[in-house]
Amino acid sequence: MLTTRPRGTNDILPGEVEKWQYIEEIARQVSGQFGYHEIRTPLFEHTELFLRGVGETTDIVEKEMYSFEDRGKRNITLRPEGTASTVRAFLENKLYANPQPTKLFYIGPMFRYDRPQAGRYRQFHQFGIEVFGSHHPSVDAEVIGLACEYLERLGLNQLKVHINTVGCPKCRPQYREALIKYFQDKKDILCKTCLGRLEKNPLRILDCKNTQCQELSLNAPTIQNSTCSECQIHFQQVQNYLDSVGIEYIVNPKLVRGLDYYTHTAFEILVQGIGAQSAICGGGRYNGLIEQCGGKPTPGIGFAMGMERLLLTLELQGISLIANYNNPEIYIATVGEETEQLAFRLAMQLRKKGISVEKDYLDKSLKAQMKTADRLNVKYTLIIGEEEFEKNQVTIRNMATSQQNKIPISDIISYIERSLRGK
Ligand code: HAM
Repeated sequence: MLTTRPRGTNDILPGEVEKWQYIEEIARQVSGQFGYHEIRTPLFEHTELFLRGVGETTDIVEKEMYSFEDRGKRNITLRPEGTASTVRAFLENKLYANPQPTKLFYIGPMFRYDRPQAGRYRQFHQFGIEVFGSHHPSVDAEVIGLACEYLERLGLNQLKVHINTVGCPKCRPQYREALIKYFQDKKDILCKTCLGRLEKNPLRILDCKNTQCQELSLNAPTIQNSTCSECQIHFQQVQNYLDSVGIEYIVNPKLVRGLDYYTHTAFEILVQGIGAQSAICGGGRYNGLIEQCGGKPTPGIGFAMGMERLLLTLELQGISLIANYNNPEIYIATVGEETEQLAFRLAMQLRKKGISVEKDYLDKSLKAQMKTADRLNVKYTLIIGEEEFEKNQVTIRNMATSQQNKIPISDIISYIERSLRGK
């Protein structure tokens, strides 16, 4: 136990971390260019927020939340997603008082008690965006466009954007009824979970992974026959905006999404080959959520990407990220106790100048230290042997050319700055 991490969690080790930094950096870059600002909310919230915000009939709330009572007897939940928290922060901090819309993005860990498998974890990371305060269909297209631009910038291909409209409170009840009517006399074929969903949330049956339920869903009525004209017009306008910038998509009438808050546009970006967990991005409009969480009626829309799935897909598509492994520029090799103290001081002084330095900490032989310098791929190695120490000198070895010079200790900092930075 002591040396095993909890199921469904990952250590992100040096070498791998650089890839994360890279995909996070591009996320920040693209979000900034689209006018989104970063928000950081707590990793845990009052459980009530997710019951209200995510929806009591969702898989997340029914079986996937990490909830506990804290020492003050408050019901707390590790955030399973970012939308509800962002809405809470928008209301609590009165961001609605600023000029609207509010455009936010976040990057961070989420927690769901899911069954772990490739691409599905109990602690995973999302890059998400949320826009509050605009009904405009161009915002729907912008949000989808941002997701596509990000994935494209990372070099991903073979992605499929699925879009649908899931209706609004005006037309959804009619669709609900149509679905209940359709599934009612097929009750004995539905799986146990869907049987429970039939009255509470029949739309979720369309999303079931059980093959029998999926077969039944094939002929189920689609929302297109029930949507009101307002929803139809909005959905058509979103498509027009997407067409105008050449973003390809598939209208998928069976796309319903697993969270209750969606209205109008819902979308997912799917990728082939990463197994059952093919959605790397999911999102949509949620025009009722802010009001449901206690705010004034305010429209909202956003998406979240699974960063682990993103990295899996990048690897699968053979896209190597420039793993900018932070190799030191300088290695200081020493022989003897006194020289080690000098090495310590030099390392600290060089680092103060913004130069990355590594040294020996294990009293290794000079040969072993030179091997380490080689492995670390440093530009220069400083060698301080007994002779150098006595003469107040340092030998500096250019690792690319193997050329060596002896430099007075008093000059070494400026010499290195000149050699590395041309200063
Ligand atoms: P979601 O579809 O639940 O939506 O999650 C979005 C993405 O997070 C998924 O497409 C997937 O890539 C990733 N993901 C979800 N669960 C896991 C898991 N257990 N392990 C690894 N990756 C996972 C939301 O979370 C909404 N809040 C998105 C949204 C934002 N809608 C509007 N605004």
